[in-house]
Amino acid sequence: MPGQNKVQRRTVLAGAAWSSAALAMGAAHAQTAGHAPASNGKVAIVTGSSRGIGAATAKRLARDGYAITVNCEKNRDLAAGVVREIEAAGGRAIWVQADVSDPDAVRRLFDENERAFGGVDVVVSNAGIMRLAPFRDMADADVSRMVDVNQKGSFFVLREAARRVRDGGRILALSSSITQLRSPTYGPYAATKAAQELFANVLAKELEGRMISVNAMAPGVVNTTLFTDGKTPEQIAGFAARTPHKRLGEPEDIADTIAALCSGDGAWINGQTVFANGGIV
Ligand SMILES: NC(=O)c1ccc[n+]([C@@H]2O[C@H](COP(=O)([O-])OP(=O)(O)OC[C@H]3O[C@@H](n4cnc5c(N)ncnc54)[C@H](OP(=O)(O)O)[C@@H]3O)[C@@H](O)[C@H]2O)c1
Repeated sequence: MPGQNKVQRRTVLAGAAWSSAALAMGAAHAQTAGHAPASNGKVAIVTGSSRGIGAATAKRLARDGYAITVNCEKNRDLAAGVVREIEAAGGRAIWVQADVSDPDAVRRLFDENERAFGGVDVVVSNAGIMRLAPFRDMADADVSRMVDVNQKGSFFVLREAARRVRDGGRILALSSSITQLRSPTYGPYAATKAAQELFANVLAKELEGRMISVNAMAPGVVNTTLFTDGKTPEQIAGFAARTPHKRLGEPEDIADTIAALCSGDGAWINGQTVFANGGIV
């Protein structure tokens, strides 16, 4: 059965007391004293946040005071670990296992978030997969799964975000700088990422009047297994050498840019594709 048993949830209440205590102290004092940052009263859902860019984003937004819903497809232990890290830093988080390619699972992901935190202000549609091969060798199943997860899955997440994100919120979809680099073997993957740029631009217009900014975030080469799996150390070093900074991006580089777009200072950036790639393009 599609969607059956695809959502599991663990609510973490241990951090619930910190926000009022930290607020009473004042954020500045709480931070200099090494305590948790004050809650900003907002809630973020980050899909695909058991590892990689999503995990770094979940932890960064938690540090900025958001309550976080962490999501994974398979790696429940990793998702639970991200929640534990957020808790240990004084934040609030739950994790929900939900395959974004299943629209019922996506609805339940948002339902579980709502049950735990009452609503959502930021959605980062980050879950994604990459399968590389030249056109002549690409397997049917690999193309189908990339379309299902990256393109249709992100659409399901963005559709739910369009319905539920509160006024003044932010919606982000993970594209990739490969939409500009257009390297051999990346054809179907790049196409599913280009879709994110179109989704963000159209959705930004549809949400007019609600002060919700919608953007695509396009990282370059980032040091996660999505990028490194299947590549030799020489190939990875070759990509790093192509950036002016002579290194791969780290997940935290992308998380920082996402946090900036989610902040008040990011409000006027709307309907755009934001390239965060260290200059590789
Ligand atoms: N790394 C790069 O160089 C790079 C560059 C540009 C853009 N991006 C984009 O950035 C996003 C994150 O990439 P990453 O490098 O952080 O990848 P990653 O390290 O491979 O992590 C992928 C995350 O997505 C989750 N996921 C995969 N399929 C899912 C599904 N069907 N439903 C729900 N969650 C699913 C994984 O969950 P499990 O742990 O359960 O598998 C994991 O949390 C992707 O959209 C990718 O296209 C990455």
